[in-house]
Amino acid sequence: MTELSALWRGEGKTIALVPTMGSFHAGHLALMGQAKQLSDKVVVSLFVNPIQFGPGEDLAAYPRDLQNDTHLAESVGVDVLYAPSAEEMYPPGFQTSIRVAELGDGLCGASRPGHFDGVCTVVMKLFQQTMPHLAIFGEKDFQQLAVIRRMARDLDLSVSIIAHPTVREESGLAMSSRNRYLQEEEMEQALCLYRAICLAREMVKASAAPLSAADVCSKIVKNIHTTPGCVVEYVAIVDADSLKSCSTVNKNSRLIMAVKVNRRVRLIDNAALVEL
Ligand code: PAF
Repeated sequence: MTELSALWRGEGKTIALVPTMGSFHAGHLALMGQAKQLSDKVVVSLFVNPIQFGPGEDLAAYPRDLQNDTHLAESVGVDVLYAPSAEEMYPPGFQTSIRVAELGDGLCGASRPGHFDGVCTVVMKLFQQTMPHLAIFGEKDFQQLAVIRRMARDLDLSVSIIAHPTVREESGLAMSSRNRYLQEEEMEQALCLYRAICLAREMVKASAAPLSAADVCSKIVKNIHTTPGCVVEYVAIVDADSLKSCSTVNKNSRLIMAVKVNRRVRLIDNAALVEL
């Protein structure tokens, strides 16, 4: 992979990387489409990264379908589907970790300790291996995007981090490989996240004065809990760059939340609340 990237760079080609854990859906394909528009060569990495899963999380169950993923990547004109093995990525004696301290600690980091260290470490390795000019990440994983942006800034990485808006089902459900865990009736329950976004946006639209973020969050928590089987892990309104809680909702605020459906499937979603 590195030799090929070096060759492309030598020919003056630009390279875009789309890092993934596979099990592609329309959201992934949209990221690949954007990569194609922005660069000469598109590399998609496919690696279910063991070090970003905590004990008791879904590493073993994580959906894997290399054959179908290969067809899908080919169908949107990806140049290389790069799928290293865990042994290649983490040879015996591997002991280095990258940690973005504060940004990775709260929100999802609070219930998934070490998760963002695992993400940063693998993304840094993928950058080294594929040498991209730009890398595309979905806004669906908003905290991940903020953490990676900070890592790239703090470590002076010469790769531009590009955000792609969340791709949604017609119902509003944010696309995610983990939606495959949802049974039919749970798809319906999972809509509580999108409904919460719509409710928060309506509240903001209807109010002339700046709204208290705490008031919006408590209304949203109540609203989510009206859906049987749905339990809020966190609902927060944060500054989109620092991920620190906002006191009032403003242009840079992001509603961000994690909800467990039937104690089984953990879903996340987020959105800006003020129309720009
Ligand atoms: O968002 C993902 O799929 C993963 O966290 C990533 C960025 C590919 C790192 O393993």
